[in-house]
Amino acid sequence: MIQYYEDFRTQPLLKLWVGPLPILILYHADTVEVILSSSKHIQKSYPYKFLHPWLGTGLLTSTGEKWRTRRKMITPTFHFTILADFLEVMNEQANILVENLEKHVDKEPFDCFLDITLCALDIICETAMGKKVGAQNNKDSEYVRAVSKMSDLIEHRQKSPWLWADLTYPMFQEGREHTRSLKILHTFTDNVIAEKSCEINNQEQHKTDSDGNYEQSGPKKRRAFLDMLLNATDDKGNKLSYMDIREEVDTFMFEGHDTTAAALNWAIYLLGCHPEIQKKVQSELDEVFGNSDRPVTMDDLKKLRYLECVVKEALRLFPSVPNFARTTSEDCHIRGFKIPKGTDVLICTYVLHRDPEIFPNPEEFRPERFFPENCSGRHPYAYVPFSAGPRNCIGQRFAQVEEKAVLANILRRFCVETSQKQEELGVVAELILRPNNGIWIQLKRRRACMS
Ligand code: HEM
Repeated sequence: MIQYYEDFRTQPLLKLWVGPLPILILYHADTVEVILSSSKHIQKSYPYKFLHPWLGTGLLTSTGEKWRTRRKMITPTFHFTILADFLEVMNEQANILVENLEKHVDKEPFDCFLDITLCALDIICETAMGKKVGAQNNKDSEYVRAVSKMSDLIEHRQKSPWLWADLTYPMFQEGREHTRSLKILHTFTDNVIAEKSCEINNQEQHKTDSDGNYEQSGPKKRRAFLDMLLNATDDKGNKLSYMDIREEVDTFMFEGHDTTAAALNWAIYLLGCHPEIQKKVQSELDEVFGNSDRPVTMDDLKKLRYLECVVKEALRLFPSVPNFARTTSEDCHIRGFKIPKGTDVLICTYVLHRDPEIFPNPEEFRPERFFPENCSGRHPYAYVPFSAGPRNCIGQRFAQVEEKAVLANILRRFCVETSQKQEELGVVAELILRPNNGIWIQLKRRRACMS
């Protein structure tokens, strides 16, 4: 699709056969809007089924009433004040990343993809589960390896119809690896949830003992999504069951790290290609932080407006989730064509974001496209890296905070350079848009490259 989109862009829509499955592909703002704005077409397509063994039917994969109730229960866990708590974790992990990057200063080009991914993984483990896995300093963690193995296995299974049948999948080597990885992933989350519920029970006990006047002693403990899930209730006051909680924790682990890791990598690559844009980001950082190396605050993030445009423009060119899919729940019409109920529809953001009518010279990296005056009047469905409508990404603000915080920490210390050409990246659009050949950069210390 990436290679041939120029050939089919002028067509109103496209039908693609994936093995026995016909898929309708949409890549224009007005056609995408029909599906995304609807509160009816919220069911995910068949290939999402391969996420079920790991994620169950959590927020990403569920549908109907189950999804609606969960979405309502989980939305408050992404509140601004909670994100401010999470920013502390992001700063701490970004600091470890920056220290790890130090050893590359003034050296040969190196591939930064893994360093960045492990940082994103450490952030999500600590914010979702309240558990430090130390992935950045312990690249051999069994859990970390299982997360990345599982994502690869799911991606490959989705594209290989001969691996689809549950009955025969375990006969393939991949099916057996799937079973092994699944066991590691679920055992890990099971243990963390058990530890957390035990902690909460102890605290409750303490509360009753002291007549309800319990105050936690010792240093303030950070909240994690898991703590909030253990306490969340629906409209009728029902709590989530153990399995419900595991589904959601696993979903955050999956959706919450590969996506931000890819987005960070693409942003770094683009800044490396465009030193003049990088300089503008660094001037803005200097205005906000001066010479100080203090942690980034939510107030700082508000002031980093140019960096925000850089992050948005990088997600336009390289949307971490290059495709996502729905099954239509009733007949509808798109550009005069009748689309029957039950059709699998793929929204291709990679192509949508390159519409020259909306983004002139679409291949050029121009953060100015996202200055408020340049966005006004733009079709609301022309740019949807986080999807849009009722089933948009619940982690959008979390991701934006993380991206800005990590990039700010890196660019306050270093200048990034790259001579890697776009055609050398090996861009692949799987579950996530990845550079198959890695992101090769060189680092210089700020003082040396700004003088
Ligand atoms: C740059 C980073 C991110 C991007 C580009 C992104 C993009 C998306 C997209 C396109 C969807 C819709 C998927 C679909 O319809 O199948 C989605 C859904 C979702 N995302 Fe994200 N995401 C990012 C980060 C995160 C983070 C950090 C979290 C959690 C901490 C998260 C949690 C979720 C969840 C739970 C859903 C399902 C929401 C629902 O269906 O109600 N995402 N994301």
